[in-house]
Amino acid sequence: KDRGDVRIHENVDELATDLADYIAELSEISVKERGFFAVALSGGSLISLMGKLCETPYNKTVDWSKWYIFWADERVVAKNHADSNYKLAKDGLLSKVPVVPGHVYSINDSLSAEEAANEYGFVLRQLVKTRTVDVSEISDCPKFDLILLGMGSDGHVASLFPNHMALEENDEWVTFITDSPKPPPERITFTLPVINSASNVAVVVKGANKAEAVHLAIDDLGPECPVSPARMVCPKNGKLVWFLDRAAASELEAY
Ligand code: 6PG
Repeated sequence: KDRGDVRIHENVDELATDLADYIAELSEISVKERGFFAVALSGGSLISLMGKLCETPYNKTVDWSKWYIFWADERVVAKNHADSNYKLAKDGLLSKVPVVPGHVYSINDSLSAEEAANEYGFVLRQLVKTRTVDVSEISDCPKFDLILLGMGSDGHVASLFPNHMALEENDEWVTFITDSPKPPPERITFTLPVINSASNVAVVVKGANKAEAVHLAIDDLGPECPVSPARMVCPKNGKLVWFLDRAAASELEAY
């Protein structure tokens, strides 16, 4: 199975520059083709790795007014809580560029995890109707222009953890968990059908503690391969790109 385009960078700075180039280019293509750029972010180190987008030339060339920003996963905490992915992005990256505040999705933090997942699914359905978010020709799922994922050392992506039932959710676009092994425990997350319906998926990974998980997610290990959520990322009609630093790539066999 094709594991996508693997881009290995000598250091985190080069990785961040390549990532900014990649995002800026996809944004330009989507705005030209569809009039919008629907992008989903993840939490963790990804947001700071995207920091170059706030610098020249990107802060000038990117058409921020056309960006619609979503979360591949979000923690079910108050919007101003330190654990909120929304807060992390809003106070950092998004405070430095002219995104339209109403174009940045945030969960309704008065709801339970289950209700928040349902509401997110509802909002996505409205935006798919207006084609602010495109629709997949094959699955009826939203077709994000870009979904950006990080990966944990256990191979989790978004809030899809190894051996968790959420990995099997095929009907809903958004599901919830209340037992995340990585705190905080309550989270909502895109399901695999949504991730795998995107036009572009990028998995951004740095650090030696992720090297084994990168190996399990990308190398061809045959039928004995342990189940890794990151390995289940396999866009059906889209492109998959891995952004790795040298340390994260150090156990890859094929490179
Ligand atoms: C989250 C995430 C999660 C994250 C990985 C990697 O909200 O926790 O979306 O999937 O991307 O755990 O995080 P790090 O890059 O910080 O290790």
